[in-house]
Amino acid sequence: MADFLSAYSIQYWLESAPQGYLMGTEFGHPPGEKEPEGFLLDDGLREQAIRTTVQLVVGERCALAASSGLINAAPDEASKRFLATQTLDEARHVEVFTQRLYDLGVAKSSLESTLQAHANPNLVKFAEVLMEKVDRKDFVAGVVGQNVVLEGMAFHVFEMMQATTQGLNPKFGHTLSGVIADERRHVGFGENRIGSLIQQHPDRKGDIERMQKEMSYYMLATFADAFRDVPDPARLERLRDGTAPKPAQWQGARLDELEPQEMERLLSDTVLREFKIRLERIGIEYQTPARP
Ligand SMILES: [Fe+2]
Ligand SMILES: [Fe+2]
Repeated sequence: MADFLSAYSIQYWLESAPQGYLMGTEFGHPPGEKEPEGFLLDDGLREQAIRTTVQLVVGERCALAASSGLINAAPDEASKRFLATQTLDEARHVEVFTQRLYDLGVAKSSLESTLQAHANPNLVKFAEVLMEKVDRKDFVAGVVGQNVVLEGMAFHVFEMMQATTQGLNPKFGHTLSGVIADERRHVGFGENRIGSLIQQHPDRKGDIERMQKEMSYYMLATFADAFRDVPDPARLERLRDGTAPKPAQWQGARLDELEPQEMERLLSDTVLREFKIRLERIGIEYQTPARP
């Protein structure tokens, strides 16, 4: 428990995040950075970026509701304090991605209607499965749903987005890198805290396994929708001046050489493989989801 306390304490959080990698940032990036001009001037790209960012806000609002909701369900004080830091992280993620919507030209007065118009129904379902556990104060299932499934997914989505936008959008890349660093901490908590609780409550396994299978299905359905709506690579390439770096490699692949369906498969396979590894470590048997 001593290691657990120091790695997930508020003191550690203060030193590593607000006084560490977030120091000096403004909405997650160095002050003054802007969305690239070419992006803002091309309505097709701008609207596509809005639709993508809406999914990030929807996912982070769910993470905020879940992490705050789990505080009062947590069986020990150290977990409550960690979840309090996570709650602030998730609120920050909601804020920085909401700010990106404003930077992309969404009027503050039409934020909610923009979210409603573009929120992916499968992502909404994914969030509902998790929130049902949180609302029942089911701590073990809630932490697996949030800190293993939701954040395992978000972590890889953010990493892939960051690799894709390298050389195109430093502002968004910087915003993502702070969020990725936060998510890494959250995923670590899920694994470290939950293993021992599952050993104490083996009767909960079946329910948790069903939840993972269901959430994974809606995740795959969300990915399938999202990769039907990716920007035309040629249009993106025109924004990259000759000296800007190419998209980074991710999971051993050159992302600019993949078709959208190949990217979708790479992302799905990567996330599901990680689920399997992490769930096995905490004593849960991974369930292969139906393919949407
Ligand atoms: Fe988050
Ligand atoms: Fe998170």
